[in-house]
Amino acid sequence: KRVAILISGGGSNMIRLVESMTGDHPARPVLVASNDPGAAGLFRAADLGVPVAAVDHRVFGRDRAAFEAELLKPILEAEPDILCLAGFMRVLTPGFVSRFEGRMLNIHPSLLPRYPGLHTHARAIEAGDAEAGCTVHEVTAELDAGPLLGQARVPILPGDTPEALAARVLAREHVLYPAVLRRFAEGARAPIFL
Ligand code: GRF
Repeated sequence: KRVAILISGGGSNMIRLVESMTGDHPARPVLVASNDPGAAGLFRAADLGVPVAAVDHRVFGRDRAAFEAELLKPILEAEPDILCLAGFMRVLTPGFVSRFEGRMLNIHPSLLPRYPGLHTHARAIEAGDAEAGCTVHEVTAELDAGPLLGQARVPILPGDTPEALAARVLAREHVLYPAVLRRFAEGARAPIFL
């Protein structure tokens, strides 16, 4: 299976995904693309020998469809079987999503369906939750709401700051996402819980 990964920043999840696709793994990374030409993850992907592409979404202002039409070019050229959003911070239109329905994954730093959207860690702490975590799901037109593919939980500790909790969750993302991608590439769809 050919995997394209979309990032917006450091790409720590992308790195783990790329590094996981070796040996008898049924998938290989064919592209890392970003909405930010300066994304540090692009340079890390290039260091790992993965082809990269960038389309600066700011060039297109509020014209989301025009941005996506440009971003689609390198993606379609790479002919991916699976698209992984990994720290990708742009909301994709239903038109874009529909092209990859059933083969586009995203990782979100909360135990969905709780806390879709942003600032998930601060919201969980604020709510007094005992646990937080991350979720890998299939991407559908509704933001952060597609079929569940995997979840990992962490405790929220007394005195936790959003930053401390974010670091604890991110470490679990780095384990969960590669595990889910491998099963997804093998054709499995039953969710896993770590
Ligand atoms: C992190 O907040 C992570 O929880 C979320 O996206 C952000 C950046 O991740 N999935 P990455 O280091 O770019 O993969």
